[in-house]
Amino acid sequence: MIIDKLSEENLDKQQSRKIIKKAGDILKKGGLVAFPTETVYGLGADALNPEAAKKIYSAKGRPSDNPLIVHIADFADIKKIVEEVPDSARILADKFWPGPLTMILKKSAAVPDTTSGGLNTVAIRMPSNKIALELIKASGGYIAAPSANTSGKPSPTMAEHVASDLDGRIDMLIDGGEVGIGLESTIVDLTVDRPVILRPGAITQRMLSDVIGEVLIDEALIKADSTVRPKAPGMKYKHYAPKAQITIIEGNKESVVKYINEEISKKLQEMYEQEDGSGKNIFDNPLALDIIEGRIGILCSEETKNLYPYGYAKSVGHYNNEEEIARNLYAVLRDFDKTSVEIIYSESFYTPNMGHAIMNRLLKAAGHHRIQL
Ligand code: TXA
Ligand code: MG
Repeated sequence: MIIDKLSEENLDKQQSRKIIKKAGDILKKGGLVAFPTETVYGLGADALNPEAAKKIYSAKGRPSDNPLIVHIADFADIKKIVEEVPDSARILADKFWPGPLTMILKKSAAVPDTTSGGLNTVAIRMPSNKIALELIKASGGYIAAPSANTSGKPSPTMAEHVASDLDGRIDMLIDGGEVGIGLESTIVDLTVDRPVILRPGAITQRMLSDVIGEVLIDEALIKADSTVRPKAPGMKYKHYAPKAQITIIEGNKESVVKYINEEISKKLQEMYEQEDGSGKNIFDNPLALDIIEGRIGILCSEETKNLYPYGYAKSVGHYNNEEEIARNLYAVLRDFDKTSVEIIYSESFYTPNMGHAIMNRLLKAAGHHRIQL
């Protein structure tokens, strides 16, 4: 796998252009290139080349009924891949493109089944990351790109995440540093009478309805049980999940911290008994405590991380900085995988705007395992 570094600031440099051209050529020839977007890293292939798009599924280990998002760099290019462009799509593109919004529209015959997962619709997005935009142009205009993680893992927010998941399976990785947003784009379905959000993201329901009127939310996103099938095929899979089982604790901050600490004490004793079997108290054995507490993780905030005397506490950021929480979430989930943590207690982050997207991903990572205090 070729790895090249690029920065959005100096794409005009000859060296940068060379790299973009090389990546574009790989895509034109049907190869796979991972690249940064403002949301998460994408794994790109020529969206209009069925064989190329197919390679994405095997590189990621992704189920083939899960359609890909087509990334464009110029609004005029949308015509080739859709049957019609509804007014709502024009209005939303005007307001939010380039940016973290994906629209579902009726597809044209130009979009192969491998890209659309056999559906008669297609997901389209114009990213705002300049590296992504230049790459799309250099590749012929249409890049199919899911998040560049192994299927089931959290989406990559840094090039290192991509390398650790996909090295040896793709042709090239463009390292553009850490992404800005950290959660995947909002997906809105415009093929129905009333637009529906299929995946929450940085562009909120409120922001959408302010410009196109009523926007619904896919019921499956709200209901925790799996009896309602989500309309975005990818949303039905358990993902973003670290190896350890996560339990989310919801309630006011003080009681959450207290509850988690009590649970940890119980769990530590339980784990000690399994190992030791003598019925002794783990808190009388500092050596054992020191080892065993590394098996318990806590996903928390800057404000609370020092309130947990036992366990491995990792902060995702400050409560009042939702951008920071969104940007750090996946990296923190990935970090837990590098430790000996077996179970994770997580605080909840119902922040004003991004909270819906943050909690959607966290709940999925936890397999909807939560306790409401
Ligand atoms: O922010 C993003 O959207 C990132 C970056 C790379 O652009 N991409 C991304 O792609 O998150 P992916 O493949 O990981 O997620 C795409 C989601 C999946 O849940 C898929 O099922 C859904 O979009 N999707 C794609 N085409 C669809 C369609 N025609 N109808 C309904 N859902 C669709
Ligand atoms: Mg994904």
